[in-house]
Amino acid sequence: MPDGTLVDYDGLIPNNVGLNQDARLRRALETWHPGYIDWWKQMGPDGFQDALVYLRTAVGVDADGWAKFDYVRMPDYQWGVLLAPQVEGRKIGFGAHKGEPAWQEVPGEYRSMLRRLLVIQGDTEPASVEQQRHLGATAPSLYDMRNLFQVNVEEGRHLWAMVYLLQKYFGRDGREEAEELLRRRSGDRDTPRMLGAFNEATPDWLSFFMFTTFTDRDGKMQLAALAQSGFDPLSRTCRFMLTEEAHHMFVGETGVMRVIQRTCQAMRDAGIDDPTDVARVRKLGVIDLPTIQKKINLHVAVTLDLFGNEISTNAANAFNAGIKGRYREEHINDDHQLREATYPVLRLVDGKVVREDVPALSALNMRLRDDFVADAANGVRRWNVAIQNAGYDYRLTFPHVGFNRKIGEFSRAHVDPDGNVLDAAAWTKRSGDFLPDAADGDYIASLMQPVRGAGEYAGWIAPPKVGIDGKPGSFEYVRIENS
Ligand SMILES: [Fe+2]
Ligand SMILES: [Fe+2]
Repeated sequence: MPDGTLVDYDGLIPNNVGLNQDARLRRALETWHPGYIDWWKQMGPDGFQDALVYLRTAVGVDADGWAKFDYVRMPDYQWGVLLAPQVEGRKIGFGAHKGEPAWQEVPGEYRSMLRRLLVIQGDTEPASVEQQRHLGATAPSLYDMRNLFQVNVEEGRHLWAMVYLLQKYFGRDGREEAEELLRRRSGDRDTPRMLGAFNEATPDWLSFFMFTTFTDRDGKMQLAALAQSGFDPLSRTCRFMLTEEAHHMFVGETGVMRVIQRTCQAMRDAGIDDPTDVARVRKLGVIDLPTIQKKINLHVAVTLDLFGNEISTNAANAFNAGIKGRYREEHINDDHQLREATYPVLRLVDGKVVREDVPALSALNMRLRDDFVADAANGVRRWNVAIQNAGYDYRLTFPHVGFNRKIGEFSRAHVDPDGNVLDAAAWTKRSGDFLPDAADGDYIASLMQPVRGAGEYAGWIAPPKVGIDGKPGSFEYVRIENS
């Protein structure tokens, strides 16, 4: 029997779930595998399928030493099924079943709820690979190209993680859902991905860094809430996915940081004191800070929509059922059942943003969104420190949660990034100040020229402080010659 720490690397699918002892499941996954590889070749990184990429592969689930690094052709990447080790005697930590032993099988009454959550989570993973598939061609360095591909192969593995759960625990339904996950396409008119943010284009590298800073962080919050699940296989799956997710947010946050550092350095060198003198800054071939602010606004708003409606009975039901908990549930000091509790929610009343106490159970999406905002705002603070250290008093801000929303309470109004409600005319007049327009997009696109010499970096981004796996920034992270 697998004890949850030993990884079997002998078969087609590396795993620590005892695939060799489960012929039915192994057959199901091996049947799904060729379709996955077809999908990867069709929708994965465009033009680099034969390149040798210095990638990490998960080879264990211990906190340290769980990955190995080596040159790999991406279609040969060993996508495995890895769960965090089972915790002996684990109990359900919240909801109506609090204190009962965690489930090792799907409770019949929660089957369709669980299946829906797995499919929604699973759908985001291949979607982001599809969104990012053209970025290799314009990578600002081999280091950045490698990071992009690392994120991509791991999102592929996250798809495997969800497909494993579907195939193991949901029979024929699960097999059909697994097929559908390979059939939908990001941005497709007829068969789009399930959530809005995962149908948006990721046209350039600043968008990629914003996506991995903010949208991957939504992934972190959702996985953290699912890691609390009373359904133990889901909990263990999500706990291991979170280990990988941390790197994706690192890529995003340090990516934006390096853009900011380069811009500030170029402004200093040119003797520019006013960072809002966009025309002058752009002459230097770097991305001006006001445009970075607009990109933050855009990506934050799209990401906040992923948290759904402020008031949600689905979220309440999933919590009551013990299927999806809160962020860091075990660190919260309350009854973990929320029988009497209230939670403050921002609402739109008579055209004004007001704070209202509502039953905490119905406000769980809101709470997770607040936890996200607190977490993400830390990154923006770190970017501001870099701007200050460069001697500029410009400050990037985290937009108001009501800004430019398409889902929930604020989708009915025009709210500016400071939280003021605008009428339609004022919004039309000013939205170009808040969001990137076509000219901003064209300017950024004009900078996206590939740089492919080892240790060379595009002029709009600073080199990283440290490389990957203890290697220097000048390491040949991708060998492209064959592709
Ligand atoms: Fe993921
Ligand atoms: Fe991710």
